[in-house]
Amino acid sequence: MKTVHKPTPVALVIFGATGDLTWRKLIPALYNLFLDSLLPEKFVIYGIYRKPLGLEEWREHLRDGIDRFSRRGKTDATTWNVFSGHLAVCQWDEFNDDEAFTSLGKALGEQEKAWGGHSERVYYLATPPTLVETIVHHLDRSRLTKDHRRSRVVVEKPFGRDLDSAQALNRSLRKSLDESQIYRIDHYLGKETVQNILAFRFANLFFEPIWNRNHIDHVQITVSEQIGVEHRGGYYDHAGALRDMIQNHLLQILCLIAMEPPVAFSAEEIRDRKVEVLRAIRPIPEDQVGRYAVRGQYGPGWIEGTHVPDYRKEPGVDPNSTTETLAALKLFVDNWRWQDVPFYLRTGKRLTQKVSQVVIQLRPIPHRSFPTSASQDWEPNRIMIEIQPHEAITQCLQVKHPGPETKLSVHNMVFRYTDAFKTTLPEAYETLLLDVIKGDATLFMRADQVEYAWMVVDPVLKVWEQVAQAGFPNYGAGSWGPENAETLIARDGRSWVNPVFVDQEAKEPLR
Ligand SMILES: NC(=O)c1ccc[n+]([C@@H]2O[C@H](COP(=O)([O-])OP(=O)(O)OC[C@H]3O[C@@H](n4cnc5c(N)ncnc54)[C@H](OP(=O)(O)O)[C@@H]3O)[C@@H](O)[C@H]2O)c1
Repeated sequence: MKTVHKPTPVALVIFGATGDLTWRKLIPALYNLFLDSLLPEKFVIYGIYRKPLGLEEWREHLRDGIDRFSRRGKTDATTWNVFSGHLAVCQWDEFNDDEAFTSLGKALGEQEKAWGGHSERVYYLATPPTLVETIVHHLDRSRLTKDHRRSRVVVEKPFGRDLDSAQALNRSLRKSLDESQIYRIDHYLGKETVQNILAFRFANLFFEPIWNRNHIDHVQITVSEQIGVEHRGGYYDHAGALRDMIQNHLLQILCLIAMEPPVAFSAEEIRDRKVEVLRAIRPIPEDQVGRYAVRGQYGPGWIEGTHVPDYRKEPGVDPNSTTETLAALKLFVDNWRWQDVPFYLRTGKRLTQKVSQVVIQLRPIPHRSFPTSASQDWEPNRIMIEIQPHEAITQCLQVKHPGPETKLSVHNMVFRYTDAFKTTLPEAYETLLLDVIKGDATLFMRADQVEYAWMVVDPVLKVWEQVAQAGFPNYGAGSWGPENAETLIARDGRSWVNPVFVDQEAKEPLR
């Protein structure tokens, strides 16, 4: 989507560099950027952590992460040796020690001196959210972020836990940083198909004439997972599906589907258009939450032949937890383009399949000239944007069967990234890290974007916190969720479009 150019020297400082995110995502992504020669020749990655782990042990730990999680497979010794030469550590007992920050500043200064000039500085906060304000405050006190153009801070999700806390966090960060320095990451926005939604909509003439309430019946956005909470039980049990997925990932996808065409492909322009969508989402009145939002929690069940326990038995989860592991919403975007077109959003854990997809369901054609016998399988056209497991865009069309008889049925015209480009796609973190290094904030969330997104879910959160859902767990692991999620959409005479996989090995979707 964007012009790739080699960035100037960069010092990347990762706070919390012994954590899962660094191990599974950040370092494999940086290693792939290195393999693709997308990092500058002059770069250093400082790992900051509190564990008593020497440089060599940390490097080995990171290599293990690449070997396990990189899309390119295992490291080779020669490349790894060169890459690992760029890794340095700072072991700190606490992340609120002025002296430690001052010594980091000295190390960065000496590095720049050795390079013969300024570098881009990226501070990646891969720590629990509770440390974000402390670290940012100390970076500021130590004048490590004083150069607004060259120093950036990446803040991971979750960004607050409701509107009030997100606003407070924004206020606090802006005491130390300029908004242009804050990169609030939502890794979904780094996925190729998500970015491709913009190309699909705004680089092709076909779609714009039908992309409105006159032709679109409704939109479905589904992000389903097969996994449970894994090692994140402690965090997840205080968050739930609405906070963990809908407030960020699903609403960001909704923005890309619903936004107006940008005048230019610039960070502010695109983020302005997205904010307009969030502002136009019809608020859900607290006394009508039940009509617009439903929740579920999984019980025991089977996922691909393996028995899995109920949510309440997962490590770190309260045995009487009332946290939702599935949430579904019906939203409306009150503007000229989308008035009265429902957007159904659904996300959940331990569902039948892992899939992230957008379904744009078109209205029926105004008149069927074909005989009823020819069109028994008639379905209105549909556009499906699949984000995972395949990255694909599908148009479901009515076509005529070959032969003398006039018989119509639905067939798919599929654009699949891997078929078209014969290459593996970059991981979202590769795209996003490169963007931070270059100072391109297009795919990152601005303060107002985050706050408007919280405004959408806040009434639901409030009501759900006050009134526990009766009958939890209410869906079995391995199913497509509870009955109330079906009812949410069935009440409107519609149904969820679930992928059907014919070949479990190849995970080939058949629809
Ligand atoms: N993991 C993912 O895939 C993922 C995905 C999306 C977003 N995130 C977000 O990314 C952030 C990091 O997640 P994570 O999964 O990497 O967490 P993690 O595995 O718990 O690692 C957190 C890191 O912070 C350090 N840390 C924790 N408390 C500390 C303290 N009081 N003082 C100093 N260091 C402390 C940990 O050090 P020790 O090793 O010494 O405990 C570790 O290095 C979180 O905000 C999370 O929500 C993670």
